[in-house]
Amino acid sequence: KMAFELPDLPYAHDALSNFGMSKETLEYHHDLHHKAYVDNGNKLLAGSEHEDKKLEDIVRDTYQPQALVQSGLFNNASQHWNHIQFWEMMGPKSVGMPSELENKIVSDFGSVQDFKDKFCASGVGQFGSGWCWLVQDKSGTLSVTKTENGVNPICHNQTALLGCDVWEHSYYIDFRNKRPNYLTNFLEKLVNWENVASRML
Ligand code: FE2
Repeated sequence: KMAFELPDLPYAHDALSNFGMSKETLEYHHDLHHKAYVDNGNKLLAGSEHEDKKLEDIVRDTYQPQALVQSGLFNNASQHWNHIQFWEMMGPKSVGMPSELENKIVSDFGSVQDFKDKFCASGVGQFGSGWCWLVQDKSGTLSVTKTENGVNPICHNQTALLGCDVWEHSYYIDFRNKRPNYLTNFLEKLVNWENVASRML
């Protein structure tokens, strides 16, 4: 039987502290919040019809497009997947945007700054908890989206290139209520653009 497992962060808890994400935030966010999704997800997964599936398939198969409220298994599985991606999409070494990604962004958004403005506006515009994303659809086109709670691009048959957690637990310690500042800092200092580029179709 498969079970969800909390992966270690791909860097030390204090590795991002010079880039606007403190050790305290990562201790709460990874060690407590992400772990809770894993633990609660495992309780709901045990004995269910989804027990032997890959995480992505559990997310896809438990998402209910018409539902006003998603199931507990969806919420915890999708948040588990979202946070695994989120940790990998950040890093302590500042790497420039690989030219393949930059060219695609310029082609689909007009400029890198236009993309960044859209991404921040999407994250600011997500009312309440959720995520904003840079996604690629099956035809290859990039766009910026936002999703509520744990919903993610898998639910919309899109590939997630970049995602930013805009739940308050992701920014309240370091940025208090200033979500726009958190998003700008995320794009300018935290994103590992090589990881983002590696996700392109
Ligand atoms: Fe989170």
